[in-house]
Order: sequence, then C-alpha cells, then structure tokens
Amino acid sequence: MSTTSQLSGFYTLSSTERLERIARQADLTAEETQALAGALGLTLPHADAMVENVIGMYTLPLGIATNFSINGRDVLVPMVIEEPSVIAGASLAAKLARAGGGFVATADAPVMIGQIQLVDVPDPHASKVEILAHKEALLAAANQVDPVLVKLGGGARDVQVHLLDTAPTMVIVHLLYDVRDAMGANAVNTACERLAPQLAALSGGRALLRILSNLADQRLAYAKVAIPEAALAFADFSGADVAHGIEQAAAFAAADPYRAATHNKGIMNGIDAVVLATGNDWRAIEAGAHAYAARGGRYTALSTWRRDGRGALVGTLELPLALGIVGGATRVHPTARVALKIMGVQTARELVEIVISVGLAQNLAALRALATEGIQRGHMSLHARQVALAAGATGADINRVAEAMIAQGTIRPDIAEKLLRS
Ligand code: MEV
Repeated sequence: MSTTSQLSGFYTLSSTERLERIARQADLTAEETQALAGALGLTLPHADAMVENVIGMYTLPLGIATNFSINGRDVLVPMVIEEPSVIAGASLAAKLARAGGGFVATADAPVMIGQIQLVDVPDPHASKVEILAHKEALLAAANQVDPVLVKLGGGARDVQVHLLDTAPTMVIVHLLYDVRDAMGANAVNTACERLAPQLAALSGGRALLRILSNLADQRLAYAKVAIPEAALAFADFSGADVAHGIEQAAAFAAADPYRAATHNKGIMNGIDAVVLATGNDWRAIEAGAHAYAARGGRYTALSTWRRDGRGALVGTLELPLALGIVGGATRVHPTARVALKIMGVQTARELVEIVISVGLAQNLAALRALATEGIQRGHMSLHARQVALAAGATGADINRVAEAMIAQGTIRPDIAEKLLRS
C-alpha cells in the first residue's frame, strides 16, 4: 500500500513507467495493472450487463494526482477526466497544502433522504400527526427491507413530514436512511416503495412519487486547508498578493451567481474526476452540489477562502457527497475497483474525505492561477498537444507540433496540419 504521495519526477515518466510505479506502490496484481492499461478493464459482456442496447465502449484518460495528504495520510488519487490541467492543478494545490499540514476532512453519517409524495390528502395537518404517531412502526417496516444493512449498523433513522405550500397541500414524507458504505439509491428507493401503502392509508390520500432526494444534505462532507502565505509565492507574485487575490476571487463567487457557477464548476472538475474513477454516480453528485449551492434561495460559492490574519490562507469546502464503495458500478467495473485500491480506502467515508479534499484542491489551483497569471498559460501546452493529436500527429510528432505551435503563439488545427505536413 502507498506510503507517500510525493512521487518526484512522476510527471516526466512515460505513461507505462508511471503505471509500473503506481502498481508497485499500490501493490497491484498483474490483473489489476492490466485493468488500468485498458487490456482487462470493462469488457463488452460487463458493459452489456450494466446498461441497455450496448454496442461498444467509450474510454477516458485516468491519471494520478500526487502530493495529497488527507487527515495525516498520504493518498494517490486516481482521476478520470478529458480536460487538460485538472490533474496537474490538483497535484500542485496538494503540494501547496502540504506546507500547512495537508487537508483536514470529515463527513456526516451516510444518511440519505427518501421522499414519498402523498396527494389528495383530505386533512394534511391531521395526517402529519397520524404519520408521526406511527413513526416507530414505519421505521421497523423500513428496516425489514435490508436486514444485512441493519446488521452492519445502517437502516431507517427517522421519518419527517413536510406540508408543501401547494393547492391543494401536498404531504411529503422524508425517510432518513443510513446506507453505510453504499451510495444508497437502491436501498432508499426500495424502502420508500415499501412504506408508501402504509403512508397512503395513514394519510387517507394516495402515494405518488417514491424516490430518494439528490439534495443529500444529511450526508455532507467538509474539508479545510490552511496554507502559510509564504508558500503561495511564485514567479513575481508574493505570497501575500496570491492569498489576497484568492480571497477576493472567493468573495466575487460568494456574491455573484455568474461567477459562482464557474467557481463551483472548477470544484466539480476535481470531484467528478474521482467520482467517475470509482464508478460512482456523478450526476447525483452534481445535482446535490448545485442544489446545495442554492439552498439559501440564491446560488452561491461552495467554498470559502479567507486570510486568518496570522499569515495563513484558510479554505473550506462543504457539500453533499453520496458516494459508495459497494454496489453499483464500484464493484462491477474492474478499473473502479483498482481506483479504490490505489487510494487504500476501506469505507465510503474515507472515499468521501478524499473526494471533498480534491474538490478544495482543484478550487485552490483554479483561483491561484486566475488571481495571478491567468489559466491560459498552463492550459496551452496540453491544449496544443490535443490539437496536434486531432490533426493526426503520432508519437514524437505530438510534442514537436505542439511546441512549434506554442512558439508561434497560435494553436489551431490548420496550423497543426501544416506543421505536420512540413
Ligand atoms: C475550468 O474547467 C475551470 C475554471 O473555470 C474554474 C474557475 O474559474 O474557478 C478555471
């Protein structure tokens, strides 16, 4: 299992050498290594069992973010993403974070919310009392759905009743359900369906929708980092200037939804990439994050950055993270299994703590660049390589064409094609 996430010179290795290094460090078997190399990853029969009408496979790059120290443990983070600069940005920010002791992260208990919609309820207020009076029986019935989960310490935790301001009033029952190491969609949806007839009878109405809420605000994740300002200095920028710029960038996002959307997109660049690498449902995570960002009635930033007045820049991030390490694609997809092994996670909570830290790191990387030299400089060399690739360059020509375009200051497909011909 990995002991350090500081892999010096990792960036300069070939992709095969990098894979060998990670395989050694994470103690991967030959089969697991092959899964990363693409040879023994998801197969057509696997894929055919996952979704409908399968005709093929669609692959994406998987890279490793280095330098992460989370709650005192070094972690190598697998990220699946098509966008250049994200993995490098996360690794750089994680390196800066080390100067302040790394990331501190934690998470709530994995409690999901299931919703049962009751309509045509003759007396909504009376039905609320009736349902709450039967809470114990309802919780017991919900717990019969998955006895294994209950044995593992999970299961139904609470029943709440909300009266919606609709005409006529709708009664919405929330079932709070601890799903332990799972994302929990199946367990919660099944429990909601199981309780629906009982709730309809108690309310005198009809049960309509029975489904979990992706605004999983009982299942929040939290990360914090405190970086000495001096560690933020680079090129001609002083640490104090960088810290002040990041603080002002965060204030902009907190006050302006147009900026907040982009600010949060940068956070999700990191979060989604790890969520995808582990076979989790990134649409659920996206839905939860943005709904949480709008919880006060106005869309705002998910992170905060402030100078603490004692020479450190302090960042925090908080959002719902309904992630699992059992069930769904996490166990079916061979590469997702290997991703979990590389991180050395044993529980969903550990995965959540890593993912929230990567989100904060990604945000730091973006704001640091935006508040100083801008993001384009860092973006250009990888972008140029993508343009060269798209123009048909192979092998050593990819870098040759990319470097020539950067030197000319114009990165365009037609220029790449011309360079390639010459
Ligand atoms: C690009 O994918 C992400 C950024 O736009 C994030 C941000 O603006 O904070 C750089």
